[in-house]
Amino acid sequence: MELIPIIRPTLPSLKSVTETLCKSYESGLVTLGRVVASFEKLSCDYTETRHAVAVSSCTSGLILAYAAMGFQEGAEVIVPSFTFAATVQAVHWNRLTPVYVDCLAGSMALDPDEVEKAISPRTAAICPVTIFGLPPDMDELERISEKHGIPMICDSAQGLGSRYKGRPAGGFGICEVFSLSPTKVITAIEGGLITTNDNELAQKLVRMRDYGKGPDGEDMVLNGLSARMSELHASVGLLSLENAQHLVDSRKRLIMKYRDVAARLPGCRVQEFPEDRSTSGNYFTLLIGSSARADRETVRFRLKAENIESKRYFHPPVHCQTAFRKLPHRVVGDLPNTMASARESLALPLFSHMTEAQLSRVRGVLENVLGSR
Ligand SMILES: Cc1ncc(COP(=O)(O)O)c(C=O)c1O
Repeated sequence: MELIPIIRPTLPSLKSVTETLCKSYESGLVTLGRVVASFEKLSCDYTETRHAVAVSSCTSGLILAYAAMGFQEGAEVIVPSFTFAATVQAVHWNRLTPVYVDCLAGSMALDPDEVEKAISPRTAAICPVTIFGLPPDMDELERISEKHGIPMICDSAQGLGSRYKGRPAGGFGICEVFSLSPTKVITAIEGGLITTNDNELAQKLVRMRDYGKGPDGEDMVLNGLSARMSELHASVGLLSLENAQHLVDSRKRLIMKYRDVAARLPGCRVQEFPEDRSTSGNYFTLLIGSSARADRETVRFRLKAENIESKRYFHPPVHCQTAFRKLPHRVVGDLPNTMASARESLALPLFSHMTEAQLSRVRGVLENVLGSR
């Protein structure tokens, strides 16, 4: 039986990549060149932001964003624990302290009330995370951010193509950082993108992604990283972004079909989609509760037996992971919604070119194992 992978990038044709890359390749200017500039320009248009800075990954982008803000060592950053590890790794690489707060039970996004409770005199930033492609409650988080004068650095790794109250992701907080890795809806094979409306921050980030070079290229005026984007990656990124509408819409259609299936599985639920926002469609996860017909491990095992990939996601919650337990941190409360989401959530195959036949095979297993008898 043919493998159904959990995720596969929907890539532009190799021919179109070659054509886009050609001039840069032949000129020998193969990094931070004309294609990167075009990709950044299109990213600004797409996200309706003033600046887009292409980098080597979302993680390097987040590391640079915290560094550019110049926070004091040991200052606190409020983060969800129901997220991917890189959210927190960027905090630790800056010698800042993550403060883990709970997510909401329904959307699984950062709970604004918990964020406000977690604020201390040492809080330097809030990091809202786009969960599976769905933005958190940005209005409420921005209200808290403004009230307390604490900037938001948004980990929007999974969110390029999502919208909140009609606005595209990109312009929230002081900056948003997207991932363009192969597991994302819009990919550059590997890469990241920082969007911001803040001129000063953008200028700093442009220097910092290239070691921190000053105007003469010799004297480093900032402590940066080697985090440039190559012309090859930008070519794939540019062509993918030109196709964004199709990439996002096809996933959203698949997600709606999955949600219809899930509605008929007793004891199971799905991520709540508040009406004021729309997902980029990065992941579909099924939440398999304790009253479901089978537990998550059984479902995983049965899918695997049918050569269908799935993933416990996000699991374990970040504050429970070996590396992060040993590093400085603070946890606010028992994080009940985080623990439940991490216990129940199973990511199922989803990619923009997934076929009806593939979806139907996954549906068959789910109905068999979890459906009412
Ligand atoms: C929430 C979140 N943050 C950060 C990252 C890291 O992205 P990258 O691999 O581009 O560094 C990911 C990657 O999946 C992610 O899901």
